[in-house]
Amino acid sequence: MPLQVIVGAQWGDEGKGRIVDWFAADADYTARFNGGDNAGHTVTVGNKIFKLHLIPSGIIHDQTIAVMGNGMVINPKTLLEEMDSLSRADISVTPERLHISHAAHLITPAHLALDRAMEIARAAGNIGTTGRGIGPAYTDKASRRGLRMADLLSNDFTDRIRDHIIEGNRTLHILGVPELDATKISDEYQEFAARLKPFITDTSCELHSALRTGKTVLAESAQGTLLDVDHGTYPFVTSSTTTAPGVLTGLGLGLDAAREARVIGVVKAFQTRVGSGPFPTELDGEMALRLRGTGEQPWDEYGTTTGRPRRVGWLDGVLLRYAVRINGISELAVTKLDILCGLEKIQICTAYRRGQEELTDLPFGLMDLSSYEPVNVIVPGWHEKISDMRTWEELPTAAQGYLDKLATMAGVPVRLVSVGSERKQLISR
Ligand code: IMP
Repeated sequence: MPLQVIVGAQWGDEGKGRIVDWFAADADYTARFNGGDNAGHTVTVGNKIFKLHLIPSGIIHDQTIAVMGNGMVINPKTLLEEMDSLSRADISVTPERLHISHAAHLITPAHLALDRAMEIARAAGNIGTTGRGIGPAYTDKASRRGLRMADLLSNDFTDRIRDHIIEGNRTLHILGVPELDATKISDEYQEFAARLKPFITDTSCELHSALRTGKTVLAESAQGTLLDVDHGTYPFVTSSTTTAPGVLTGLGLGLDAAREARVIGVVKAFQTRVGSGPFPTELDGEMALRLRGTGEQPWDEYGTTTGRPRRVGWLDGVLLRYAVRINGISELAVTKLDILCGLEKIQICTAYRRGQEELTDLPFGLMDLSSYEPVNVIVPGWHEKISDMRTWEELPTAAQGYLDKLATMAGVPVRLVSVGSERKQLISR
């Protein structure tokens, strides 16, 4: 199937990186279509851990071409750092292998400063952003005053970046935070431009041709469905379209590209969230600690980008069903099943209750999520260590039962199950 889409079915951090890695082994192109370096995708290969924030994680596979689509917002400084760190790890990052859309937007120091200043100004009502300038960059895009990758190629870029910083300084001044040095930043961005120029191209045209000639394009979403700017738990969301339909606008493809698309929803075996906002199945106390881990292991629930401890809870079937609908998910990849090993009993939220009403679909989508109580069912846990298992048949009956329950709630099959963080610790069904 030429277009394959990997989306997060929760609040991000579902472990998409390793699922992308699995599919990327057979892909010609691997493409990011939304977000920026707020994302953190981790792939473990043997004893090497790759943490990617901007470049599609599929680049780790030699045969792929990595594309950064027009729907992205790109901080050139962190992009160059990431390119250098991949090169040091012997991953080739040349203009032949990495193609950046001319229409992707630039993140600047003004966006970073505004993001942080606005979070402070929101005080108790803050969103808990990653502080990477994502919201302000998309705001500039929507207000038609953003800078794009193609601007790096223009002769008057120095003036444009300087004007942009001066404009940003006006708002920073109102917010009472220090202003930025426009000349210094414009010099720095000239250097970035010189290095990035060879990578900038018309990726929409390229991907269109690739799909027409039967090549496989793997689109990897950043963040998760519940953080989508339209369909997530607004306003506690990111500023981009994180869901599968965003692949088309974010890569510059037409509806024909979606005709035979395969949409793989990645869902963690339990629920996590970073940042503020409602979380109906959230846990605290000992069980939360048990699911989160202490932060000593790379797979513990602490942010790849910010290091913040993640909020944790039982799997939410209502939100999963919602994610299947909004994305058109055709199959699921369940991650971190191994973390549930050793629990006597596991809970799953199958419906919400508000007053006398019990609901499996919500009247206004994710609005007012905090007004519902989760209705949980209890299923048996298992004690067997599953990290070395590689087939569905080997899994304990209770683990199979948990996955079957999840598939029934979602209405789509579970095709992949991860039982550990290493590349090989996957069960394909
Ligand atoms: P922003 O994208 O930095 O503006 O942050 C907006 C919200 O999305 C905050 O709650 C962040 O914690 C959350 N968020 C952004 N990126 C990620 C991610 O990659 N994983 C999980 N949460 C994220």
